[in-house]
Amino acid sequence: MTLKIFVLLAVVTGVLGNTNAAAITGADPTEQTTRVPQDNTVTSGEFVGESAEDDVMATGELNTNHYPANRAAKVVQHYLNTRYGSPCRLFGLQRVHRGNAEETAESGRKYELEISVQEVISNSTAKCSAEVLFAIGGQSPPDVQTSSCEDISKINTTAQEEALYQQYHASNSLMSAESLPDSYGHIDPDLKPLWHLGSVASSFVMLEESTEDTLYNMAQVANVTQLKTENDQLKFNYHVLLHDMVSQEILHWKLLVTWSPAGGVNVLQREQMPKCHECEKPPNAI
Ligand SMILES: *[C@@H]1O[C@H](CO)[C@@H](O)[C@H](O)[C@H]1NC(C)=O
Ligand SMILES: *[C@@H]1O[C@H](CO)[C@@H](O)[C@H](O)[C@H]1NC(C)=O
Ligand SMILES: *[C@@H]1O[C@H](CO)[C@@H](O)[C@H](O)[C@H]1NC(C)=O
Repeated sequence: MTLKIFVLLAVVTGVLGNTNAAAITGADPTEQTTRVPQDNTVTSGEFVGESAEDDVMATGELNTNHYPANRAAKVVQHYLNTRYGSPCRLFGLQRVHRGNAEETAESGRKYELEISVQEVISNSTAKCSAEVLFAIGGQSPPDVQTSSCEDISKINTTAQEEALYQQYHASNSLMSAESLPDSYGHIDPDLKPLWHLGSVASSFVMLEESTEDTLYNMAQVANVTQLKTENDQLKFNYHVLLHDMVSQEILHWKLLVTWSPAGGVNVLQREQMPKCHECEKPPNAI
């Protein structure tokens, strides 16, 4: 028994390189299985049967369980990922506490929100006040401003990021993976950082693509390949699947992503693949 545990530990630390990395990837292999649906829970269930058209015009104090407040809140989640996200820090929408919408004749519709977001890797939560402005006609990406998200800066992932970076940088072989998560909702613990990075990169696209009529969730990393680089930025080609809950469409995007602890996450290139209506929905999309 003792020997078994020792061997297992040796394998785990061998694969991950050091114990810091072991801590960030999470010891519980089922973690992601609960995470993925969790990210969707807020946006499912309660909304079924609602008339989307009536909702779009909702103004004043909003029902926090309904689509309009949640669509706007989801945009804040994507925004936070673009600003603070990393392979070690990924935000999901936890709850909408309050929402208010108003028409502004000159610029569009403005949402004022109080929400809780969850940092899914450390399982810590932060409360945020935010404003989301959807431009008239959805011509430009929504404009997001957060006025207070104090707890977010307390989620310090510097040590984890350095450890992960060293591990990827020092490795002789380039990483690659497909189907994160797989059809059982499972992600290998040592591949989770690639899922987290893909989710953060996808938030850049989802933030830009969001309108009052969309509600995007990250569905799956179809595949990811690490590329050789000459500088200190790690570089990855991602093929991701995004799910719009409103239209029920699965969108395929190819992303060229860089990351380093100092440089953060950047999406250098993005390209939407042609929609394929015959395609199957990924297993974990609702
Ligand atoms: C995350 O934290 C909450 C309390 O903040 C707890 O109820 C929940 O079980 C935790 N989830 C995991 C997967 O640890
Ligand atoms: C985060 O932690 C590192 C040590 O791991 C420390 O050097 C750094 O100042 C901290 N950053 C913040 C913003 O607290
Ligand atoms: C990645 O996945 C997409 C969608 O399944 C597929 O079309 C593409 O060929 C894959 N690319 C690689 C490099 O495996």
